[in-house]
Amino acid sequence: MMSFVLPPGVAATARIAHIGLAVRDLDAAIAFYRDVLGVAPEPQESADGATIVRLVLGETEIELLTAADTTSPIGKFLARHGPGIHHICFKVDDLEAALAACRKAGYRLIDDVPRRGAHGRRIAFLHPSSTAGILLELTG
Ligand code: CO
Repeated sequence: MMSFVLPPGVAATARIAHIGLAVRDLDAAIAFYRDVLGVAPEPQESADGATIVRLVLGETEIELLTAADTTSPIGKFLARHGPGIHHICFKVDDLEAALAACRKAGYRLIDDVPRRGAHGRRIAFLHPSSTAGILLELTG
C-alpha cells in the first residue's frame, strides 16, 4: 500500500467549496435544484465570459455555468465536451501556500497568482493536464 506524506499545513482541512457544471440552459438546469431539492438559486453573476448561478447546499455549492459568449472558456468547453462537470473547487486555509505547494510539485497553474472569481472569491485554477484530467479551482 502506498503511503502519502502531506506537506505541513497543506490540504489537511481542505473541503469541496463548489462543483462547477457546464450547462446549455440555465433555467432547465435550475429546475431540479429548485423543484426537487428546494434550493433557491442565487442571482446571476458574470465572470470569464460565463453566466453563473450559485446554488447553496450547506457548506458546498453547485455553480451552474453557461456561456455568455461562445469564445469564453465555458463556451469552448460546451462546444468540445457538451454539458457536464466542468470543474471542482477546493477551499483551502491558505491559498498562497497551496499555490506554492502546487508550484513546488510541478503542477501546471492557469493562474499563477490568485484573482477574483464569481461572488468576489479569491481563486486560482490548475490546468487539467496535470490534475488527472479534471479542471481544479482553489479558493482561500
Ligand atoms: Co468555480
